Amino acid sequence: MNKKVYIETYGCQMNVADSETVASIMQSRDFLPETSVNDADVVILNTCSVRDNAEQKIYNRLDFLKGLKRRKKHLKVGIIGCMAQRVADKLLEHEAVDFVAGPDAYRNLPDLVNETDIELKTINTEFDITETYSGITQFKSDEDAISGFIPITRGCNNFCSYCIVPYTRGRERSASYKDIILEVKNLKEKNYKEITLLGQNVNSYYFEDENNKVDFPKLIEMVAEEAPEMRIRFTTSHPKDISDELIEAIAKHKNICNHIHLPVQSGSNNVLKLMNRKYTKEWYLERMDKIKSTIPDCGLSSDIFCGFSGESEEDFMQTLDLMKTVEYDSAFMFKYSVRPGTAAAKNLVDDVQETEKVERLNRMIKLQNEISLKKNREDIGKTFEVLVEGYSKRSNESLFGRTQQNKVVVFPAENVKKGDFVLVKIDEVSSATLKGTIIK
Ligand code: 5AD
Ligand code: SF4
Repeated sequence: MNKKVYIETYGCQMNVADSETVASIMQSRDFLPETSVNDADVVILNTCSVRDNAEQKIYNRLDFLKGLKRRKKHLKVGIIGCMAQRVADKLLEHEAVDFVAGPDAYRNLPDLVNETDIELKTINTEFDITETYSGITQFKSDEDAISGFIPITRGCNNFCSYCIVPYTRGRERSASYKDIILEVKNLKEKNYKEITLLGQNVNSYYFEDENNKVDFPKLIEMVAEEAPEMRIRFTTSHPKDISDELIEAIAKHKNICNHIHLPVQSGSNNVLKLMNRKYTKEWYLERMDKIKSTIPDCGLSSDIFCGFSGESEEDFMQTLDLMKTVEYDSAFMFKYSVRPGTAAAKNLVDDVQETEKVERLNRMIKLQNEISLKKNREDIGKTFEVLVEGYSKRSNESLFGRTQQNKVVVFPAENVKKGDFVLVKIDEVSSATLKGTIIK
């Protein structure tokens, strides 16, 4: 009988896309997709290592799965993703874990699962610099999905001193532009309305064959022209590589969303240097000026974290100053978590006290909420094109969707459905959402 596989995803959008790739690989070998953990024969956790609390969640989940295995003796449990790569041996020691596979080993997963019938535990954490999962069409569990991810690069070569990703996902490689365009066509045929091109640093995309040399600005133009009716997004960008060509491509193509997520991490040059970010605050602000002057209505967002090794109160104030200067529409904010094996863990002292980290994080969040509210207020009275994503969580009488700038808009449900583009005029706002009415 075919085994039923349940996959649970943690961490970033890359992991969401990888889970679809894994689902597809498992299906091609006769495993069936399952949506309930209780009914599954195989449970796979696709994990994240970016901060310690992401890993703690997995240990908690494994304790639950240990209980489930007592009741269901045949159940197999596996860990994939970044944490599988980082702490494979420790995970294998866990009573609940039967198999472990790193981000480059997913083609081998069906075998790893089957082999657990013979061997006690199985593992594959080999890196494969050529692996882009070419030829695998991602499995979409949601029949009426309108938004899809296409991974265009995997891995990372930047070695920011705090970051575990180069160690868990290996060196950077780019998928063939032909494969990417095929996937765009596939999603277009399935009536998708939005595509997000994914990579740890999409700006360093580069693929060369006998006919073409394709960099990221060229790729995004190819994608935009292939699917003029679809919205095109991309994430994540590294500030050091965000070129004029890319900014101009966004301005030129109506369907490339006017939104740039450009993680600054810190506003202090001392800290940026310790982080090995390879740009200065001045460079970053110049890039922001270029974006703002070329795409005046561009949505801007960032990742920022406080409490990195050596961050003084003065350094932290410079981060707050940068946030005030840029005025991001939104930001993901964190406190520093030492990742064993990184350059920062080896060479720097984690010298900001936990209570201080928490206090700085709260100040940062408070400031960003004020800025988001101010930015959202500027939208009152304006009209935006919104892609309808579904009913709002609070009520069946309201729909929600996103503007090109990636802001969430809630509006009364009127003769429109998920996947429609509508024009919505904004009437009121909070720091997190816009509320409006459909005008067309
Ligand atoms: N501690 C805290 N935050 C981190 N990030 C990456 N590594 C760490 C770390 N060790 C944040 C960065 C990154 C986002 C995905 O997570 O802001 O852009
Ligand atoms: Fe987490 Fe980073 Fe791995 Fe994504 S790439 S799963 S954010 S550690």
